[in-house]
Amino acid sequence: MLRKSKKNAHFFRHLKGSKENYSKLVCVTAYDYTFSKLLDESGVDIILVGDSLGMVVQGHPNTLSVTLEQMIYHTQCVSRGVQEAHLCVDMPFMSYQVSPEEALRNAGRLVSEGGAHSVKLEGGIAIAKTVEKIVSAGIPVLGHVGLTPQSFHQLGGYKVQGKTVSAREALLKDALALEDAGAYALVLEGIPAEAAQAITEKLKIPTIGIGAGPHCDGQVLVLQDLLGLNTDFKPKFVKSYSSLSTLVKEAVTQFSTEVRSSRFPTQEHSFYAGS
Ligand code: KIV
Repeated sequence: MLRKSKKNAHFFRHLKGSKENYSKLVCVTAYDYTFSKLLDESGVDIILVGDSLGMVVQGHPNTLSVTLEQMIYHTQCVSRGVQEAHLCVDMPFMSYQVSPEEALRNAGRLVSEGGAHSVKLEGGIAIAKTVEKIVSAGIPVLGHVGLTPQSFHQLGGYKVQGKTVSAREALLKDALALEDAGAYALVLEGIPAEAAQAITEKLKIPTIGIGAGPHCDGQVLVLQDLLGLNTDFKPKFVKSYSSLSTLVKEAVTQFSTEVRSSRFPTQEHSFYAGS
């Protein structure tokens, strides 16, 4: 885990050049104040306001309907819980694809109104110019290649990418283009471990994997998956470190039982005029 002073994009960008400071990066998503405070106190390096909120908060089947206003709102909530971690936010679908100018304006809003420290964009060579524009305005960018959920329809679903030699070469070119454009790190999602290893070895900036094997310079998970809160579906790359869904149901069931049997509230949880 990195110290507070080292949780910034400049430091992440140069992390691999520094043997004494090198430590794998830990990134977890958050969408609200309560959990962001807990993640921050747990010492994660990067808190990501992911557009996965479209699924885990809003209940949609994918991330495509999430708006810029919603991302700003959730980033504001999360930023109030952040003291030490780096706060990155996803640029939602169609907030950066139309033109580099529009992308910069929207990235600026996520920073100035939302309180984000950096923004994440999905895509490779096709968005390199946009990344360059945002970075040259002073806003750090986290890249994201491989299985890019905003291209759900183009990819034909959530499928592992980079399985063929040519697809792996294309992925590497995308990754290098983002590094050249000034990205401080790169999320590698849903690609074979060998492909992630090859990219990680070629890049000077750190890679942060999700479903990309053990060789990346860091790992990211969606909070609800990590905590075992998501009962809808569990992909192979997810490890749940708790079973919060069971704990939540047990707690609420006990509350219901006590209310229905008049065992809650007791005197201990009640106010009295005379005391
Ligand atoms: O939206 C998200 O949560 C993400 C991470 C899973 C990398 O992009």
